[in-house]
Amino acid sequence: MHPKTAIYPGSFDPFTCGHLSLVERALKVFDKLIVALAVNVKKTPLFTVEERIQLIREACPQGDIEVVAFEGLLVDYAKSREVSIVLRGLRAMSDFEFEFQLAHLNCHLAPHIETVFMMTSQESFYISSQSVREVAAFGGKVDGLVPPNVALKLRERFRPQSF
Ligand code: PNS
Repeated sequence: MHPKTAIYPGSFDPFTCGHLSLVERALKVFDKLIVALAVNVKKTPLFTVEERIQLIREACPQGDIEVVAFEGLLVDYAKSREVSIVLRGLRAMSDFEFEFQLAHLNCHLAPHIETVFMMTSQESFYISSQSVREVAAFGGKVDGLVPPNVALKLRERFRPQSF
C-alpha cells in the first residue's frame, strides 16, 4: 500500500492548540503530514516565516511530520510534492464559507486534489490565531490557547518595555 500523505496548509501566525490537536489527530489517519506554511505577502505577520516554522517544529509531536514554507498557489505546491490530499480544520459554521470556497477553487485549479476536513477538538473550537494575537497584545493569558513554546515567544514579543 502507498503511504498516505496529506498537506496541512495555513498561516500559523501563531500555531495554536487547535492546530496542534489537528496535527495529532491527522497522524492517526495519514502516514505522513506536511505542515505547509503559506508565505502570504498580503498579510503582515506577527512572526517571521522562520520563527513560525521553528515554533511549529518544536510544538509538534514525534512522527512523520515535515514543516515547510511554500510560496505561490497551494495546488502547485501540492503537485510539486506529488500529494493529492489537502487537510483543513473546521471549527464552527463561520469557517464553512471560506473553506467551501477554498476547497472548490482548489478543485477547479487541480481536480485531482481532494480537500479533507477534520473538525477541531471540543477543547479548541474557539481558538483562532487572530484572537490569540489580540489577547497576547493586550497582555492576556495565552496558556492553554497555544503550545507552551508559542506562549513563551508571545510573552517575549509583547513584554512591556521599561524605559
Ligand atoms: O491559516 P489560513 O490563513 O486560514 O490559511 C489559508 C491558506 C494559507 C490555506 C490559503 O490562503 C492558501 O492556500 N494560500 C496559498 C495561495 C493559494 O493557493 N491561494 C488560492 C486559494 S485562496
